[in-house]
Amino acid sequence: MKPGYSLMKHYLQFKDLRAEEYAYLFERARIIKTRFKNYEKYQPLVDRTLAMIFEKASTRTRVSFEAGMYQMGGSVVHLTTGDSQLGRAEPIEDSARVISRMVDVVMIRTFEQAKIERFAAHSRVPVINGLTNEFHPCQILADIFTYIEHRGSIAGKVVAWVGDGNNMANTWLQAAEILGFTVHVSTPSGYGVDPELAGIRDSACYKVFTDPREACRGAHLVTTDVWTSMGYEAENEARRSAFADWCVDAGMMAAAQPDALFMHCLPAHRGEEVAADVIDGPQSVVWDEAENRMHVQKALMEYLLLGRIGA
Ligand code: CP
Ligand code: NVA
Repeated sequence: MKPGYSLMKHYLQFKDLRAEEYAYLFERARIIKTRFKNYEKYQPLVDRTLAMIFEKASTRTRVSFEAGMYQMGGSVVHLTTGDSQLGRAEPIEDSARVISRMVDVVMIRTFEQAKIERFAAHSRVPVINGLTNEFHPCQILADIFTYIEHRGSIAGKVVAWVGDGNNMANTWLQAAEILGFTVHVSTPSGYGVDPELAGIRDSACYKVFTDPREACRGAHLVTTDVWTSMGYEAENEARRSAFADWCVDAGMMAAAQPDALFMHCLPAHRGEEVAADVIDGPQSVVWDEAENRMHVQKALMEYLLLGRIGA
């Protein structure tokens, strides 16, 4: 972090930031995106380095962080379990101590949330969650920014979550509690959300529906995710039969508000969690959503490393 700016923050869960910090970040993301689209150079992170540690596969997270860091004048180091000592049982605490002496910010995609928390506890620099089994805060940051771009404030709105009670669902619940909207959750039996695991206190921020179409009724945004998340592949067959009725189709979209948006963090499986005519249809904003990962993460890294611009 820049000299004189000593307030170190990690971004390990959505609830690590407050509503007014999100308002600031969404405004910064808008400014940073506009400048980038206008080919205006903005390089506040010259000589700064981002380390990215991937213990699971990625397309969007890698490209968005890497391109975003280069655009801001910095550079990137890419590590995976297989090509670093992390895969040869070097303690995570030692890895954190060493890596954080050489770089300025670390992004980690891993399995248990406890692992990223252990890394952060021994890091000298901000750590960002690029997806864990429990949470995916950078994705929800992009999703809400995308909602705001298309429809304005998300406060008071209804988001329908159709599918697995997974890392994305947990993060939507945290966002609802902080930003003041409601999530209608519909999952197959046995795959529901656990408010304790999701880390929410206010059970009023979500409602559970057995029927996915009922969850979509009146929603301003309908969203879903893969039936089988990374790390759960052994459950694939059982999940395919359990989730068969949790495919977002035209009927579910028709139950939502007429101008409801459809989002999916991607990668998507057409014909499983979403019908092709929904994800490729006029209400879908999935490509804006994917692109916005880069713009919001640039705002996030700027905030974690430099604090508020102009403050
Ligand atoms: N949505 C998302 O995080 O995509 P990747 O797995 O490709 O990074
Ligand atoms: N829930 C999915 C999201 C992928 C971006 C997973 O964890 O695999």
